[in-house]
Amino acid sequence: MRQKIVAGNWKMNTTYQEGIDLAIAIDKAVAEKGDKNVQVVVAPPFTHIAEINKVVNNERISVAGQNCATETSGAYTGEVSAEMLWSAGADFVILGHSERRSYYGETNDMLKIKVKKALEFNLTPIYCVGEVLEEREANKHFDVIKKQLETVLFDLSDEEYKQIVIAYEPVWAIGTGKTASPAQAQEVHKFIRDLLVAKFGETAKNTSILYGGSCKPSNAKELFANPDVDGGLIGGASLTADDFLGIINGF
Ligand code: PGA
Repeated sequence: MRQKIVAGNWKMNTTYQEGIDLAIAIDKAVAEKGDKNVQVVVAPPFTHIAEINKVVNNERISVAGQNCATETSGAYTGEVSAEMLWSAGADFVILGHSERRSYYGETNDMLKIKVKKALEFNLTPIYCVGEVLEEREANKHFDVIKKQLETVLFDLSDEEYKQIVIAYEPVWAIGTGKTASPAQAQEVHKFIRDLLVAKFGETAKNTSILYGGSCKPSNAKELFANPDVDGGLIGGASLTADDFLGIINGF
């Protein structure tokens, strides 16, 4: 069975106390009104992870990092390792978000190492792929996504691959208010699934593929209704418990 997942990417938002309060509000909302079939993930800033892991009681809510280092440990000032995330209570880590790729120069080759590191320390990678506007307009989006998947995932063993969650995030839809249409999302999700099934076989039919990019309570239902859309990676709308709950209940 494919797991339905709604993950909130808080990005560089919330002070420590605001983050704890938001996590408590999400925990309460999910416990009282949340769809019981959905795995909820919150990805706060690193500084909040350990405490949020303590204040969240609901076992359907997991905590994620927004990134991790390529290295295990050592003299890498400012980096946070997969093992640190795991030891602070994270179960997931977002890798390859377009903001990491474009602002911090993360390449497919680096992400291949990060995915391996995450798996080594028992974190489930939420691996993000997606094209920028010029690539879509030049009809190159399938090639871009194929490369992002092949370079980063295709050397994984079947055992490792089983842990992977994918997020398709068209970069032109992130934080812009411009959402991919349900048909556009389904077209790419199906392309991704077909590629993964061709490589990893039947297990890829169980891979959760999330949509991200201006997903909100008002459009979650039509996006999640697609056969290959298994949930969402949510930015802006994950910063209020009510909106996030509205998306969690969008299946
Ligand atoms: P958005 O961000 O929902 O604010 O568009 C999505 C993301 O970047 O993961």
